[in-house]
Amino acid sequence: MRKKLVVANWKMHGNLASNRQLLQAYIAALSSLKQVDVVVCVPYPYLAQAQSLLQNTNIAWGAQNLSKDDVGAFTGEVSAAMLRDFGATHVIIGHSERATAYCESDENIATKFMQAKKHGLTPILCVGETLIEREAGVMQMVVGQQLDTIINTYGASVFADAVVSYEPIWAIGTGLAATSDQAQSMHEFIRSKIATLDNQAANSMKILYGGSVNPQNAVQLSAMKDVDGGLIGKCSLSAQEFAKICQAASECSA
Ligand code: 13P
Repeated sequence: MRKKLVVANWKMHGNLASNRQLLQAYIAALSSLKQVDVVVCVPYPYLAQAQSLLQNTNIAWGAQNLSKDDVGAFTGEVSAAMLRDFGATHVIIGHSERATAYCESDENIATKFMQAKKHGLTPILCVGETLIEREAGVMQMVVGQQLDTIINTYGASVFADAVVSYEPIWAIGTGLAATSDQAQSMHEFIRSKIATLDNQAANSMKILYGGSVNPQNAVQLSAMKDVDGGLIGKCSLSAQEFAKICQAASECSA
């Protein structure tokens, strides 16, 4: 059985003082949870703070984006090696808030996915459809195409030990989460798509659900066979709510 993984995506929230409080509250609330892996993806400037507060705890840390290049004249970019310098283990790739606001193409996202892997970071690849696409019934085609850019360029084996997060765009920050059946159905589609090409990769990859996860819906979502955990936005800004979500995931791992 795959161990559940719960990832906090703080987005552009926090400051040194509030982060310290939040991370200390995470540590206190999560130290006894053994059946779930927990990662917090902080804004770049706070990687050093996360490293200093979280080292030697059961919580890992990561970033919300990375450069597709190794090094060079790329103003404002942050490389995979820089993330590693601060002990990051995970990086979110292709979050829809970036893909739409910063025009990230699927090709760019595929390059970043490989860049993370090349440097020993676990990529958390975000995929998902818009409400119009869901209402038109083309959500599997849309998510399939997002995966195809990576599969066609690098092969399905690159999904081994990687993380895919299904984040329907209509569910992000809206309070309207996918139902556990909707999530399971898409997660099953994603895993079987990879499995037809590389069964081992499909079994080792984790598929998270993201989009308005809260302590209540986390219980049902976590119980689904192909839901390996969650990517949590708003509720990760409250240690109490985030801990309850981690607890729900942990109980399903046991
Ligand atoms: P919310 O949990 O705030 O809906 O955000 C989800 C998300 O975008 C996680 O990456």
